Formats: sequence, structure tokens, C-alpha cells
Amino acid sequence: MDGNGRWAERHGKSRIEGHRRGVENVRKIVDAARELGIPYITLFAFSVENWQRPKTEVSALMTLLNTYLKKELQSLVKNDVRLNVLGRVEELPAKVRETLSQTIDKTKSHKSHVLSLALNYGARTELVDAVKTYAAQITSGRVDPGKLDWKTLSKYLYTRDIPDPDLIIRTSGEHRLSNFLLLQGAYAEIYFSPLCWPEFHPLHFIEAINDFQQRERRYGQTGEQLKTAKKSLQRT
Ligand code: FPP
Repeated sequence: MDGNGRWAERHGKSRIEGHRRGVENVRKIVDAARELGIPYITLFAFSVENWQRPKTEVSALMTLLNTYLKKELQSLVKNDVRLNVLGRVEELPAKVRETLSQTIDKTKSHKSHVLSLALNYGARTELVDAVKTYAAQITSGRVDPGKLDWKTLSKYLYTRDIPDPDLIIRTSGEHRLSNFLLLQGAYAEIYFSPLCWPEFHPLHFIEAINDFQQRERRYGQTGEQLKTAKKSLQRT
């Protein structure tokens, strides 16, 4: 959800006002995703690099996040949404950690949808954390490194409870992934929107999904192989 700052600048508003509008849009897009029957949505809300921003901005982001979580609880409960977090949560401010753990706890039995927030997240730190945990298990003799495969390694990532993303949307006209779900997104379709996050309307979200639905996902196979497999599935 990139471009809150640029949106604010273009509208003569403060960066923090841009983030406020960004949060309003989070509500709209999360609701749209739910109404469209999308079971998993993940938002890149705060990266490991975002701590480098001015202290006032970081603190405003944490306050916005805390308020969002508190206000959203009722809707998460009503709509059977489970809250999930990806990232080094232990480094977030105590107040945010507390709200997160309460929200996670109160929504843990929900099954229809999962809303994941990437907070203090970076794909490289995620890999480092996974390798550290795995290495500790080798040292204690609990795992055999000779048997390591992707399925096993993926269980050490923050995303162990959710499937890989099918579609990654980046707003604001930037054409890069910026350390977001690099391993999980290996086969994801990527959609770049020139719009800044606060102006990325649910109708633009639907456009992105329509675009995704036109794509052919080959996973290393040829288009011909996929057609043959599809035909044989249609016969069964
Ligand atoms: C991107 O815009 C946005 C962020 C880095 C922060 C988004 C997070 C929040 C608004 C906190 C609350 C989160 C949720 C999920 C409710 P940018 O500042 O990078 O924009 P710019 O590149 O135009 O400066």
C-alpha cells in the first residue's frame, strides 16, 4: 500500500494525513476482498526499514495501527476474520503488541477469512529468523538437515499458517517488490497500479483481480502442457 506520502504531498496535506487516508482505504479494500470471497489478504503495513523514518511519523503510524485494530475488532468478529501477523512483532511498541495479541486471541477461531498484517517485516529478516530457528533445531538434534526441502523450510517462515500469495498488488507506480514475500511470491502474479494507496478504490482492486484472471500461470510448464492437463481434468 505505497504512496500515502506522495498522495498527501500532491494534495497539500501532511504525510500523517496521507497515512490516515491510507487507513480509511485499508478498511474499504479489506471489506471489498471479503465481499469478493477472497479468503486471504496480506497488507505490507510496516517494513523493517520503516524505522528509519522520522520519529514523529513512526509514532503516528503505530498510533494509527493501534486505533485501527481496536476499531476493527467488532467487524473482524462479525465477519469471521482471523487476524494474523507477519514480522518481528516483539520489536513493536508494547501498546501495539498488546492490542495485536488481544485481537489475535479474540479472532483465533475464525475460519472464513484471514487478514495478515506484515509489521516490522522484511523477507530477508524472515529468512534469517527461519534459518536461526532451524539451525537451533539441528544443534539440539531434533531435525536432520539432510532431509530439508522447501515444504519443511516454509514451515519456519512467518507465513507458515497461510498459503502463498496468488496476486501481489503494488500501488504508487513503483515497479519493485521491496523485500515483500520474496520467497512466497515466487510464482505470484504481480500487478502494478500507478495510483497512490489512498486513491486505490475497490473498483481498481477489482480491475487488478480481473487482470489476474486473464493471466496464464504456467509454473514452469508449457502453455500446451497446461491445455492438455485442463482438457483431461474437464473429462473427469
Ligand atoms: C506507504 O506510504 C505506507 C506506509 C509505509 C505505512 C502504512 C501503514 C499505516 C498507515 C499504519 C496502519 C496500518 C494498517 C494496516 C491499518 P509511504 O509513506 O511509503 O508513501 P510515499 O512512498 O509516497 O512516501
